[in-house]
Amino acid sequence: MAGNKQICTFHITTFGCQMNLADSSTLATTMTTRGYQRVNSEVDADLLILNTCSVRDKAEQRVIGRLGEIKRLKRNNPQLKVAVVGCMAQRLGEELLKVAPHVDYILGTDRLFELPDALENIEGAPSVMTAFGHENMDIIVPSKETPFSGFVTISRGCDNFCTYCIVPYVRGRERAHSADQIVQNVRSLVAEGVVEITLLGQNVNSYRHNHTDFPQLLERVINETDVPRLRFMTSHPKDLSERLVEIIAREPRIMPHVHLPLQSGADRVLEKMGRGYTVESYLKIIESLRRSLDYVVITTDLIVGFPTETEKEFEQTLNVVRRVRYDSAFMFRYSVRPGTIAAGYEDDVSEEGKIRRLKKLISLQQKIGYEQNQREINQLRQSIVEGASRRDSKVLRARTEGNKTVLFEAENVSPGDIVPIRITSADAYTLHGRMEVSN
Ligand code: SAH
Ligand code: SF4
Ligand code: F3S
Repeated sequence: MAGNKQICTFHITTFGCQMNLADSSTLATTMTTRGYQRVNSEVDADLLILNTCSVRDKAEQRVIGRLGEIKRLKRNNPQLKVAVVGCMAQRLGEELLKVAPHVDYILGTDRLFELPDALENIEGAPSVMTAFGHENMDIIVPSKETPFSGFVTISRGCDNFCTYCIVPYVRGRERAHSADQIVQNVRSLVAEGVVEITLLGQNVNSYRHNHTDFPQLLERVINETDVPRLRFMTSHPKDLSERLVEIIAREPRIMPHVHLPLQSGADRVLEKMGRGYTVESYLKIIESLRRSLDYVVITTDLIVGFPTETEKEFEQTLNVVRRVRYDSAFMFRYSVRPGTIAAGYEDDVSEEGKIRRLKKLISLQQKIGYEQNQREINQLRQSIVEGASRRDSKVLRARTEGNKTVLFEAENVSPGDIVPIRITSADAYTLHGRMEVSN
């Protein structure tokens, strides 16, 4: 039985990054342990939880839009409760009530797991909780994204303070989980049948707990668990070491995919962003990865229109994109985040200018992504079956070692199976293939 008599069922909507997905899972576990029941449909829920993102203005607008819809739901059902948790709750705190007075609970990134206490008003737990330093790192459980894939958080928060970024403010200082706990979390997911695990952190490369650094952590996870496929996100170019490249090259269970955000291809802009690397040192990592691994998928994040970015500097970004030849990229228009260092700079690239640069960048990357995918043709990729494709239920969807989506037709395979797929054709975003049947 749930401790709050009015609330029995809850529904969670997650915005933002994988860290939020992982947190939503932990929150759901905490809630169910306390007797609340998770439901898949909002109409069945007594409590709607929004786990929110603040990384760009658009991300926040999406939450505001959702809250507008919820206001209407609440009019028809005044008993309905709403909790806004995570990054945007952290950033705005009580201020959120000005735009959305119908929100009942606001819990920041360190405190969302205390939601049941707030619901039950334990020791007068207030309905707005955003103070840092209350977190219990031990309760953070590994989370399943699907029955066969999952996330294990290795660190929370970020110390980098890239000048454009809100994450260090809303997530707080970087703190690492112990290697023992991480190994234990991986083991428990594997015991539940998970075949692919992603280790998560804002900057996995700066991981350090006592004497264990990130390459050593990977080694421990590989040596001390039976996880068939291991991934990690996100790598930061300033901290990615040669030892990491060596271990990816040596260990077949670590998947050959590195997400390495470049952000800008101009040294002056990188400096102003506070990224801590140059184009040259970035390219050295790429060369080292390509030299050491027969096959590696490299993806990135890019921002256009950062304050003072000139047309020429934008062209330099295009040039680095041409040189690296990313398999795919997340590309964004710069968005001012209040309170960050860059918010003090004049946002001097016009919106039209940003849109034009973004379009140009996307069309270049689309062409390169297409060409990179053509190179997959005839290759055999061990892929995890995820389920039916979105468009056609007869077509199955799987994920390759390089984290690409491949569509194929087959019978007698189930989600979670790892199957050999020969790539037969490809477009810019998807591969197509056929399953190789062993004799
Ligand atoms: N910790 C990760 C990802 C952080 S957020 C990293 O350092 O790479 C994901 C991406 O959002 C960033 O890589 C960046 O490209 C983008 N981003 C962050 N703040 C932004 C802002 N203010 N405007 C536009 N894009 C932003
Ligand atoms: Fe933000 Fe930079 Fe930290 Fe990534 S490394 S979360 S971009 S401050
Ligand atoms: Fe992630 Fe967005 Fe927070 S990107 S860390 S959910 S601000």
